[in-house]
Amino acid sequence: MLSRKAICDSHGQDSSYFNGWQEYENNPYDEVRNPTGIIQMGLAENQLSLDLVESWLASNPDVVGFKKNERSMFRELVLFQDYRGLPAFKNELVEFMAEIRGNKVKFDPNKLVLTAGSTSANETLMFCLAEPGEAFLLPTPYYPGFDRDLKWRTGVEIVPIHCSSWNHFKVTESALEEAYEQAQKLDLKVKGVLITNPSNPLGTTMSREELNHVISFAVDKEIHIVSDEIYSGTVFDSPSFISITEAAKNRNLENTDFWKHIHIVYSLSKDLGVPGFRVGMIYSNNETVIAAATKMSSFGLISSQTQYLLSNILADRKFTRNYMMENQKRLKKRQEMLVSGLENAGVWCLQSNAGLFCWVDMRELLESDTFEAEMELWKKILCEVGLNISPGSSFHCTEPGWFRVCFANMSKETLKLSMQRIKDFVDSIDQSKDNRNNLQFSVSNSRRRSLTKWVFQLSFFDREKDR
Ligand SMILES: Cc1ncc(COP(=O)(O)O)c(C=O)c1O
Repeated sequence: MLSRKAICDSHGQDSSYFNGWQEYENNPYDEVRNPTGIIQMGLAENQLSLDLVESWLASNPDVVGFKKNERSMFRELVLFQDYRGLPAFKNELVEFMAEIRGNKVKFDPNKLVLTAGSTSANETLMFCLAEPGEAFLLPTPYYPGFDRDLKWRTGVEIVPIHCSSWNHFKVTESALEEAYEQAQKLDLKVKGVLITNPSNPLGTTMSREELNHVISFAVDKEIHIVSDEIYSGTVFDSPSFISITEAAKNRNLENTDFWKHIHIVYSLSKDLGVPGFRVGMIYSNNETVIAAATKMSSFGLISSQTQYLLSNILADRKFTRNYMMENQKRLKKRQEMLVSGLENAGVWCLQSNAGLFCWVDMRELLESDTFEAEMELWKKILCEVGLNISPGSSFHCTEPGWFRVCFANMSKETLKLSMQRIKDFVDSIDQSKDNRNNLQFSVSNSRRRSLTKWVFQLSFFDREKDR
């Protein structure tokens, strides 16, 4: 009765990543109303600097009221329907993107397509770059939403590039080649590599060496590179962020055919903390992709009042510069709070310099080195400890025991409480291990005592016999 699309499960909604959100919604923590509820640490939302945006809005009532030079903009905005977007907004966006990249690269507003968030940008790019049944290679661990965004409606397949902890999950030449071979074994034509830089869930920026591996690989195989740079403005520590365009420019690829194989995805959801406004974009050097994606953007436009409001905010350079600096400072402080809170509990993280989360190593807490044990631990942390963190398996991590923990969607006090909960939990595990060891010790001691007694008795008996 229904279409295959309506009943297929490649949307990924049933993963533990989304299940944890549901569990949280049934019992959300609230300092006053539900102090024992679940704390949401599975949501990569940036609430740390919303007060700055709010105070900008308070001091610019004309913009909020759609007035310009005493004249109402209401009719103009309510009737605006050009799917290419407000030119003023696109101009501000390219300036903002260049500023985040230290003005080392320039962007042309004509190469920009507006979309309803990065979610829509990534899907639209898949529609433009691949046929159903063709594949994109993605380094693991990767954002769980990609299974929905890249595959679900497009029919495109994802083949993982397996990265692991021995080199801090960095992309290597051999991992790229192995993924390519794997795709060939599966009879899938590879159309591109999609990287997330800075990475969700690692919270790290890609090194120039890694970017060069990806570029050389894509040049060699004549495939596309999509770089999701949604976290580019969250880089709060060195090494600094290198965009794919900067890395390719440094390889003198700007005037080659390959330049048309590079596409960037960006959004204001994380850097400006406005995911509800649904502001995303594709930046591509390929005119045909731009033309096709612009036509497709009709299915997910950004409303004109949102474009108008944000073009005014972004045009205030003094504000945006201050916002970005202050936001990065706040993110750094929060990340440090999380890292030291976890260290205090004896838990370690991958060293990070960006993003709204840390990639936490809980392998020591697993009962066994399996994904079943990871699920058991995740359920315990969710239901008994009261923290919704996201298990590595939902990010397609190949090693059990890693978890993504978000730190920018809650107050300082809530983060402190979550760290206390983790510490109590780890202490209780240590305690029960100690008890178990003590029990074993006392069992083995009493065994040893009875053994000694027995040996003594035996030797006594032997001696008796000897006598
Ligand atoms: C890597 C990555 N890409 C895309 C998205 C989707 O973002 P948006 O809200 O702009 O659709 C997210 C959201 O978490 C993300 O982490």
